[in-house]
Amino acid sequence: MSAAEAVTDALRDLHRRFVDVREGERADYIPELTRSDTRDFGLALVSMDGHRYSAGAARTPFTLQSVSKPFVYALALSSLGLDEVDRWVGAEPSGEAYNAISLERRTGRPANAMVNAGAIVATALVPDTPEVPAFTRILTTLSRFAGRGLDVDEDVYASEAATGDRNRALAYLIRSTGVLPADPVAAVDTYFRQCAVRVTAVDLAVMAATLAHGGVNPVSGETVVTADVAAQVLAVMATCGMYNASGEWLLRVGLPAKSGVSGGLIAAGPARFGLATYSPLLDATGTSVRGRDAISALSERLGLHLMRNPALPGSTVTLATTADVLPSAPADREARALRERVGVVAAQGALDFTAVERVLFALDEAGPERAGPVVLDLREVTGADGVALALLHAGLARLAREGRRAAVVDPAGRLGPPALVRGRTGQDLPRYGSREEAVEHCARDLAGPA
Ligand code: DON
Repeated sequence: MSAAEAVTDALRDLHRRFVDVREGERADYIPELTRSDTRDFGLALVSMDGHRYSAGAARTPFTLQSVSKPFVYALALSSLGLDEVDRWVGAEPSGEAYNAISLERRTGRPANAMVNAGAIVATALVPDTPEVPAFTRILTTLSRFAGRGLDVDEDVYASEAATGDRNRALAYLIRSTGVLPADPVAAVDTYFRQCAVRVTAVDLAVMAATLAHGGVNPVSGETVVTADVAAQVLAVMATCGMYNASGEWLLRVGLPAKSGVSGGLIAAGPARFGLATYSPLLDATGTSVRGRDAISALSERLGLHLMRNPALPGSTVTLATTADVLPSAPADREARALRERVGVVAAQGALDFTAVERVLFALDEAGPERAGPVVLDLREVTGADGVALALLHAGLARLAREGRRAAVVDPAGRLGPPALVRGRTGQDLPRYGSREEAVEHCARDLAGPA
């Protein structure tokens, strides 16, 4: 037993709650999929630190089917860039079933890369060379997302290849409009192979977590795609991943997600977690019934809806005061009077745009009558992204222009070199190793030359 087992317990609870649901049907238009065990139900969650939690049949293999689509779209985006990919396949929810003829009226361009028509185009966009065939690139990419070497279930592949005329028809239809960048038979064959790649719920949770983690697999540490591509894929999953149920899903569950007809389902909490379920019984939209219900329940129970603000207010600025009330303040009255005029702001954690806005606001408020020098203590800051650093430098430069001197406590050098602010080199502020040194310096400044 361990403390983190409480997370596993949450998954076990969901397993218990939904394992007896018998609603739904297995997909039978790919005959081989009817061999799955309808009792199987697995759940897995992977954190941004790569911690893995699972319950039920989380290590039972099944085929990716449509859950492959976001990852192959990611590969197409990585290979060609968003603008080029967008010329061939759009990003509008179709409001139609996964196998519908969802093609743009005038151009014939598929609505998005989550429906079959768009997914076949995304597959056709993957570079195909004699040295590295498209499917090799796809299998390698899927394996990097999962953090282990994946393989193809040849029986499922053969079963779909034998019965997949609707997808072949779609590919020919797309080619007739001029927006299929490859041979239709070859593109659909590669697409069937990618759909037949074998995974487990744990694999899927790692794959979803990699998208949520800005394209870096949190278990293997490998960068699979850029943060831009990961964000683009999550955006299309959010609006199109659940086909004609996408709007309701985003409304009620609030997570980018993707379902597949073998019973796999993934959901991603950006910068928070990857989640996956496996259960073969499907609803009318081709989504696993137990998976759908379990992820909905988990989102509600843990407050995971994307549109709820996950940032805790007030958790960035830990101190906003004047230097005379610090425990280190001297008893001497004159020294204390000087310190009353020195503002002190301390920040903690990772700084992004939202966090830096709080810090800058606190700096303005600091000190008596919002004037005088101010000490900014960054010792408890664990990191800052590029946007946060630029904004922090710009804010500190503004403060300096208004005649308010800022002294930064930053032994770890989080603030970096003086940044460019609107094309000009920003101020190089005095930096100190300890808060006391910074306060002392500001107080001495106020006292003037001795
Ligand atoms: O192309 C097909 O029909 C299947 N290989 C995949 C469809 C699918 O998974 C739809 N998702 N729920």
